[in-house]
Amino acid sequence: MKMWGGRFDQEMNDQAWAMNASIGFDRRMASQDVRVSLAWVHALEQAGVLSAEQSLIMTDGLQRVLQEIETGVFEYRESDEDIHTAVERRLGELVGPLAGNLQIGRSRNDQVTTDFRLWLLEYSPALDKLLKQLMGALVMRAENDMGLIMPGLTHLQPAQPVLLSHWWLSHFWPLARDRQRLDDWKVRLAWLPLGSGAMAGTSFGVDRQALAESLGFGRPGPNSIDSVSDRDFAAEFLFIAALIGVHLSRLAESIILFTNPAFGYFELSDAYSSGSSLMPQKKNPDPFELARGKTGVLMGALTSLLATLKGLPSAYDKDLQEDKPQVFMAYDQLLSTLPVMAGALETLEVFPERMASGIRAEMMATDLANYLVSIGIPFRQAHEQVGALVAEAHATGKPLEEVALDTLETIPDVVIEQVFSPEAAITRNNAVGGTSEDAVKKQLAQARQALEEE
Ligand code: ARG
Repeated sequence: MKMWGGRFDQEMNDQAWAMNASIGFDRRMASQDVRVSLAWVHALEQAGVLSAEQSLIMTDGLQRVLQEIETGVFEYRESDEDIHTAVERRLGELVGPLAGNLQIGRSRNDQVTTDFRLWLLEYSPALDKLLKQLMGALVMRAENDMGLIMPGLTHLQPAQPVLLSHWWLSHFWPLARDRQRLDDWKVRLAWLPLGSGAMAGTSFGVDRQALAESLGFGRPGPNSIDSVSDRDFAAEFLFIAALIGVHLSRLAESIILFTNPAFGYFELSDAYSSGSSLMPQKKNPDPFELARGKTGVLMGALTSLLATLKGLPSAYDKDLQEDKPQVFMAYDQLLSTLPVMAGALETLEVFPERMASGIRAEMMATDLANYLVSIGIPFRQAHEQVGALVAEAHATGKPLEEVALDTLETIPDVVIEQVFSPEAAITRNNAVGGTSEDAVKKQLAQARQALEEE
């Protein structure tokens, strides 16, 4: 069965057919396609286009098709051009020529994008759930590792001491924003294209508001030409997916670095590492490298769809068929990566003494400058003065604290010791959002609350 052909004398060339067919990937939306058709049949009946009896027969038939799909016995055929054809073909086998009424007032142009949006509406919650799971792992780490200190880095160079919990939570908030992005995106995702026909709308008096509500959409799309060609929802999804990837990749990069024995802050559980076929000593952070690597693929998917869209004229063009493989691929990739990240973080071992030994006196140079400010020295001057002490420390090979004790004779030793205590330095950064234990505990409470929100 073909959905078209009346005007054609010749069969389509086999290779052209294979290029044209999308059944290989759009069968993934089989269940959505049938449910969209069920809603459409109902809408046609409400509009008086189909009789109650016709509608009943078609509805029963579609329910059987749905059951076959859900139980895995539905037979997809090479000769089915796409999922819409496959469903109509099967309905025809079950109920006869009445199946042909499925496409009254409807085109595959409004149908396919409705199926696709519905698929994303139904499948994106699973992604959201896995994001939450990973965020939960970060919160758990922040809770359990409370009090441990680590060298904070900027430019990958020693900066200031921070609480490890503060660092874990720095990877929590980007993911919290990704969840917000998904929520926000869903509002636009839930514009219903169905009832837009091929491009000009439909003439059968269908109540599109009721149709939208029956399928769980927020509203009917306001313009039929836009509705059949709008793939913003797919591009936005791919952007969110790519950004999630970027967030995972940045986290992964740090884990890879910190599990290197030169740092030795963390060790991955055996369950989340792999070895080398040649070097017996190796323990490699493969899952994190893959998370980093797959991000390139996610970014490529976004770029690929944008490039597909950029030159398209108005309304539907077959180019749009290229949207689905990218979205499905990105979705699958995140769904397989996120739980692995969560498991690896939950099970990694932390080495507090390694982190503590990475903290050098110089990382409190800012604290010394701040102290000088507190006794009335202008900051720029204090910065200069401490900079000179750092230079001297480097020249003499002495720790900065010792140089400070020797040089700043008017300042009591106990004060200098306090200035150079990493714990005290951490405690001093107690404004909202800082790394003091009080501030981090408040932050942790906020993170827990963000996790509880739906
Ligand atoms: N397989 C097509 C797609 O994914 C369905 C829509 C085809 N429309 C058409 N007029 N040929 O976009």
